[in-house]
Amino acid sequence: MNLDLPGPQAVRKLAPGRLVIASHNEGKVREIRTLLTPYGIEPVSAKELDLPEPVETGTTFFANAELKARSAADLSGLPALADDSGLCVEALGGDPGVFTANWAETADGSRDWNLAMCKVEDALTAITPAPSRDAHFVCVLALAWPDGHVEWFEGRADGTLTWPPRGAVGFGYDPVFVPEGDTRTYAELDPAEKHAISHRADAFRQLVAAVF
Ligand code: IMP
Repeated sequence: MNLDLPGPQAVRKLAPGRLVIASHNEGKVREIRTLLTPYGIEPVSAKELDLPEPVETGTTFFANAELKARSAADLSGLPALADDSGLCVEALGGDPGVFTANWAETADGSRDWNLAMCKVEDALTAITPAPSRDAHFVCVLALAWPDGHVEWFEGRADGTLTWPPRGAVGFGYDPVFVPEGDTRTYAELDPAEKHAISHRADAFRQLVAAVF
């Protein structure tokens, strides 16, 4: 009997060559470049191509990652990889979550990560009795091709929040996030140590297994 059911959709492979890193966040671009190094890919950032930064109108990590990857693939005619990520604090109902970058916004439109970390800490200390400080980072990678095809990969890293911030390596909320199994913050880890355990590396492992 032939039921003519569709088989599982094959994941599209990524050929060696140029790949746009669809981000204007230098911390992310630096980490993604390092993670791509072994795979014969020539990363070129959205900033190097002078691509505009699309407005993140999505309400999920998946929607925003797709929107950024599609925009860069459409405008460049090259495959494009976007990362949408954020910090989810359990006692804050998952906030700042998809709005993690917005919590850093200042009156003049620039971003201040000390301000963002203070806002999270203030929200936590306003809760009585003292709540859990458990949190996790999420990273969704979207890989888009100029013909509209998209693949997604989701990574996660669990940990706790510490105060005051510690460490000088990394970016964003790294100085307050202590990954599970360690006592140091992300900002106190050597970049190679962060790459072994981070939410971005977790998503990357899945991407590498599927598309290379
Ligand atoms: P978006 O993905 O551009 O919306 O921004 C997410 C924000 O989450 C970044 O700007 C960072 O502040 C924060 N974030 C994502 N990944 C990390 C990380 O690995 N370390 C610290 N902060 C991060």
